[in-house]
Amino acid sequence: MPSPLFSSVILCISLWILLLSPAQSLTCTSQKLPNNKQYANCSDLPTLDSYLHYTYNASNSSLSIAFLSTPASSDGWVAWAINPTATGMAGSQALIAFKSSGSFVVQTYNISSYSSIVQSKLSFDVWDLKAESASNGAWVIYGSLKVPVKAEKLNQVWQVGAKVTNGFPDKHDFKPANLDAKGTLVLVGTPVSPTPASAPAPSGSAGGSPAPEKGGQSTLTANYLGFFLGSLIVLAF
Ligand SMILES: *[C@@H]1O[C@H](CO)[C@@H](O)[C@H](O)[C@H]1NC(C)=O
Ligand SMILES: *[C@@H]1O[C@H](CO)[C@@H](O)[C@H](O)[C@H]1NC(C)=O
Repeated sequence: MPSPLFSSVILCISLWILLLSPAQSLTCTSQKLPNNKQYANCSDLPTLDSYLHYTYNASNSSLSIAFLSTPASSDGWVAWAINPTATGMAGSQALIAFKSSGSFVVQTYNISSYSSIVQSKLSFDVWDLKAESASNGAWVIYGSLKVPVKAEKLNQVWQVGAKVTNGFPDKHDFKPANLDAKGTLVLVGTPVSPTPASAPAPSGSAGGSPAPEKGGQSTLTANYLGFFLGSLIVLAF
């Protein structure tokens, strides 16, 4: 029989893990946007410490997003784009945020090719564009956009840069993290994740309506963690 002290220590450690790990394993789901703005879904993007919070409204084919990332320097820029025609940078329809005389601006760039990066209207409607600072030097770009009717997924691209010259974002680095900053944004159905059939349903999303800030992989981790902690606590007493 473990001593009461031992049990308490285990319990404390368990609680400590429980309290701490969401910040590490559930990054976007536990992330607080400025003013506690809420979106139905979020995704931890695979590179450049970037996150996309989004709500898709299929009935009017609109998508509202909050893209959170950290510029390569405080005089730099962050960008998020949809590419309607391909998977990389060429063809992307970008929202780029940077600071001009201390205030945020969000501009739209139609990046028709690597050599033609010009500020212009996008190939789809965008509205409610805005950017602001978040915690730890991160910035958030907000926006709403019209997506093709019945779209189920989109190609997204994101990027960060270190410098803006005369109101024009300078070239970003060409490190692997920059070059790999692209992926699929799944609008319909659960984000793709290797969920085994036996995994417990994420709490709160048993019904049809989407729970706020679903995260595929991360939710799974949390459930296993809960099971692990449950076992630990049973062992301890
Ligand atoms: C989606 O858009 C329709 C049409 O504008 C609106 O009536 C509905 O409330 C929207 N749904 C959500 C969840 O915002
Ligand atoms: C769709 O509905 C949402 C929520 O009601 C609204 O914010 C958005 O402006 C609408 N989109 C369009 C294209 O009318």
